[in-house]
Amino acid sequence: MTPQLETGAAGLTIRWDDGTVGQFPFIWLRDTDPSGFHPDTGERAFDLTTIPLDIRAEDAAIEGGALRLRWPGADVESRFDLNWIKAHRPGQRRSDPAAVTPVRWRNSLGAEGIPRADAATLAASDDAFCEWLLDTKRYGVSIVTGLADELEAGLDVARRIGHLRETNFGLTFDVESKPDPNNLAYTADALPLHTDLTNQEMPPGYQFLHCLANEAVGGGSTFCDGAAVAEDLRAQNPEAFEVLSTVEVPFRFYDSVTDIRSRKTMIVLDDDGAVSEVCFNAHIADVLDIDPEAMVAFYRAYRELMALTRGPQYTIALKLCGGEMVVFDNRRVLHGREAFDPSTGRRRLRGAYVDRGEWDSRIRVISRG
Ligand code: OGA
Ligand code: ZN
Repeated sequence: MTPQLETGAAGLTIRWDDGTVGQFPFIWLRDTDPSGFHPDTGERAFDLTTIPLDIRAEDAAIEGGALRLRWPGADVESRFDLNWIKAHRPGQRRSDPAAVTPVRWRNSLGAEGIPRADAATLAASDDAFCEWLLDTKRYGVSIVTGLADELEAGLDVARRIGHLRETNFGLTFDVESKPDPNNLAYTADALPLHTDLTNQEMPPGYQFLHCLANEAVGGGSTFCDGAAVAEDLRAQNPEAFEVLSTVEVPFRFYDSVTDIRSRKTMIVLDDDGAVSEVCFNAHIADVLDIDPEAMVAFYRAYRELMALTRGPQYTIALKLCGGEMVVFDNRRVLHGREAFDPSTGRRRLRGAYVDRGEWDSRIRVISRG
């Protein structure tokens, strides 16, 4: 049946048979006219300042599966496909193949519960690649197995997603015990659970650590779901959660050529109040400069979060083997490692980052089919 059309003072209401009701303000209809988008690029070419805010259609009708509108002025008409306009009705988000419901996990997931994908399977199929992208996004972590023993093997997987995110540590980086390190990761020391580069205006999204060798004594990896920790903190100690999601703290990385600083809250919420990000790195938290009156409350909350990340209920421990690559959302999942003894064998990881936007873009493009 043809949907019902009602013309009001400020716009149109369309009622579909299945109960869907769309409200379409005239200004939106004029601005969204499909002919106002560039035929090649799909970008909006229409100039909003050429029409008044209170524009009204002179005529509106539904015919032949389309909504037709006539606007004041010389022969200006719009035609909207009815299915298209239903799918794009205002007040709801555009459907997104990259939107997933995160699976919050704790220690009970176990190392064997981390999604795994074989490099050859990923290489052979876009569908398998997309499933892996979605799974990794759901859990915030996965392991790619069976990578060739080549410097570029892990990077090839990352590059298939999108552009690598270059940082002051380079487009890619080698995690090894090095002389004269500018970063604790480049020592043989233990690293407690943390997220990388919280000192950046936007910390990198997904991190890739391709294990080329892990033959030294020690050097096991740890992971925890920062969003699960933060949500538990909200339930157990709402005051601490409030402090950590509202008080901005300074982060800083500096060496002889770099001094990168940023202020952010350790827990970041999205518009719906859900935890969207955790920025947690005690090594590069700068000297705390918050109001002295608020200082002890901040430390109380911060220590509580830190203590949770050290507790066994969240941490998954595993030891990466050569040919494995761990991939994780650096803005959600915390990572760490045990100390290792470089005199007992080689340990070398090749790292890179790909931001969340590139990740989601690849999911959407593959999902187009
Ligand atoms: C890092 C890091 C972990 C590891 O490079 O940021 O945390 O296992 N490395 O060496
Ligand atoms: Zn790190």
